[in-house]
Amino acid sequence: MKIGIKGIVLLSIMAISACSEQKETKKSRVDDLLAEMTLEEKIGQLNQYSIGAELTGPGEKQGQAKRRYEELKNGGIGSVLNLLGAKNARETQRQVVENSRLGIPLIFSFDVVHGYKTMFPIPLGESASWDLELMEATAAVAAKEAAAAGIQWTFAPMVDISRDARWGRVMEGAGEDPYLGSAIAVARVKGFQGESLSDPATIAACAKHFAGYGFVESGKDYNNVYVGENQLMNTIVPPFKAAKDAGVATFMNAFNDIDGVPSTASTFLLRDILKGNWQYKGVVVSDWNSIGELISHGVAKDKREAAKLAITAGADIDMEGVVYIDHLKELVEAGEINEDLIDDAAKRVLQLKEDLGLLDDPYLYFDENREKETLLKKEHLDLAREAGRKSIVLLKNQDDLLPLKASNIALIGPLMKDKDSPIGNWRAAAEAGSAVSLYEGLTKALPDANFTYAEGVKLSVGPNNFFQEVEVETGDRSGFAEAINKARNAETVIVAMGETAYMSGEGRSRSEIGLPGLQLELLKEIYKVNKNIILVLMNGRPLTLAWEDENIPAIVEAWHLGSEAGHAIADVLTGKYNPAGKLPMTFPRAVGQVPIYYNHKMTGRPSSAPGQVFYTHHTDVDNSPLYPFGYGLSYSSFVYSDISVSESLLKADGEITASVTVKNTSDVDGEEVVQLYIRDLVGTITRPVKELKGFKKVMIPAGGSIEVEFTVDPEMLAYYKGDLKYGAEPGDFELFIGTNARDTQSVQFELK
Ligand code: BGC
Repeated sequence: MKIGIKGIVLLSIMAISACSEQKETKKSRVDDLLAEMTLEEKIGQLNQYSIGAELTGPGEKQGQAKRRYEELKNGGIGSVLNLLGAKNARETQRQVVENSRLGIPLIFSFDVVHGYKTMFPIPLGESASWDLELMEATAAVAAKEAAAAGIQWTFAPMVDISRDARWGRVMEGAGEDPYLGSAIAVARVKGFQGESLSDPATIAACAKHFAGYGFVESGKDYNNVYVGENQLMNTIVPPFKAAKDAGVATFMNAFNDIDGVPSTASTFLLRDILKGNWQYKGVVVSDWNSIGELISHGVAKDKREAAKLAITAGADIDMEGVVYIDHLKELVEAGEINEDLIDDAAKRVLQLKEDLGLLDDPYLYFDENREKETLLKKEHLDLAREAGRKSIVLLKNQDDLLPLKASNIALIGPLMKDKDSPIGNWRAAAEAGSAVSLYEGLTKALPDANFTYAEGVKLSVGPNNFFQEVEVETGDRSGFAEAINKARNAETVIVAMGETAYMSGEGRSRSEIGLPGLQLELLKEIYKVNKNIILVLMNGRPLTLAWEDENIPAIVEAWHLGSEAGHAIADVLTGKYNPAGKLPMTFPRAVGQVPIYYNHKMTGRPSSAPGQVFYTHHTDVDNSPLYPFGYGLSYSSFVYSDISVSESLLKADGEITASVTVKNTSDVDGEEVVQLYIRDLVGTITRPVKELKGFKKVMIPAGGSIEVEFTVDPEMLAYYKGDLKYGAEPGDFELFIGTNARDTQSVQFELK
């Protein structure tokens, strides 16, 4: 007897009333459904396409659209991406539910990375807040807006550790550190998913890209990765594990290979670690055609072989590869793969649908009224402003040029009036040009000030969008004279420079990471006529700013801050908000230092005694970064006391505490992120010179002091020593507390 999904729902409702153990009932509904499905229908659940509104109705269709529409109606598609809006989604869902044999609903997915309509800071920028509650809250609002617009699944957070600022996708992640990255991964997963996936205000999250994508060679997107087990397990994997432990509903494969094995076909990553050691029960989705790309990688001779490799490794859904739908059936029939593999993958997808509440109500997320009421709500924009100012990092503030005291101010630079760049890349459904510009923010915040304005130079020529390469302006200096003139006649000059939204992000790797185009040249000209410059940077990656740091008195890192960028920056410049952001990624002095990160290893030749030649260094640049990880200034000044530790001996089953008193010696209240680092002095394998192991963001009133305490236990000292052996090793450790990864004090303790 064919009972279909409607019949199964009815049976389940009866079963629920008969049995109090709802979880078991739910589980059996998925099993019942699976038992009901043909091989083709199961494979359909593993097929995902990007479709637009053109597929929502029957209309005239040709070519690819025709094929996809047929598959849609026949249960040949399990989930879609990029189809937006409650109305379009409802209509598409209706086509599937009413036409396919079992009426199994689709999941609608989308890259909701830092907001849906209301844009929050790009993830790298927001990570500079070190404020986990904030990041959970912005992800929750992003989920709420997306869910109201028909989406149930986001491909976020990106939890790839990234140490190479040339890689354009550093803007999407939480920076270079596994500890901070793990904490942020958890906050974002919790924010997107909330308490329950079936709540129509939450969406399923996706930990991506598993694994190693942040380590693409020379920072070139999609490039090959060469990391060993130590790097993989101790640096790259921790945020994925943290996301898994936080209950992330899905994982995504990565485009790259690791030492010869494409991640999408890696049984080690997917079967042994994720689905084996970790017992992960969620869905693994490929990246866009990353199964098809196994052919370009040269590990599969055709799509058939690619399908076989990926399903065997454990990729459950084929995103846009059209590989599973075309080849899995013949592979099963030829006896080359076991149907159990298909069953396991399909079951994971069905379970996700169950968890999302779609098996109870396929139309749960499609409420046009809710969509209208939810998008761009005032409270969402308020949160965007809050997130914006918390993400700003004050890099330099010589002679307290900030907060602004001047009232005769020249506003200069290609990003000063720009309403689009602050939205950033991966902007989901944001309206182009919808951000508050810095010009708007400042003129609103200081209505009595005397402002002049000049763009000075253009940053790019032609279009700035996701699908086109941005062309940097390199020839037109016609705006210089006006800008220089206005700067000359002002008390203070605020210069807004950096990158447009599409100079970072996917496919946007750069070999030089200074201010693009003619910006630095203009800045130097302005400096000749007026040295009171406040440089506001908007960018998606760490930049090289050696000249700027040496000469410009005040520098503010304002990333791409989202919808309310201009207000948020004005809050900081005027002193309405005291900045407290800290860099989640090291800023190099020169691009040749990259990858540069604080938690590097010693090497056999670390010494830098004067006159020494044969040690680890470049001959033309100091080994130190320009701005270290964890760095950021405040309008307050903080003084740290010595560290006191409860004991200098840590037992295998014990713990010790370390504390400092931080005093705010200024006359403004301010927040400080107090950071704890530990170094394992001798290990079985080489160990980092320092690793972040804790942090606390505290508000310290003007003139006041706060005692900050950290508990240290052996688990915090554990690491992968090789051959997947994990644990802490007895011996001596150094414990550091400080205001960034460079400026710390330390004490030693021993693990017995
Ligand atoms: C990206 C993913 C993204 C997917 C779907 C790919 O190009 O690498 O991160 O989720 O596209 O848009």
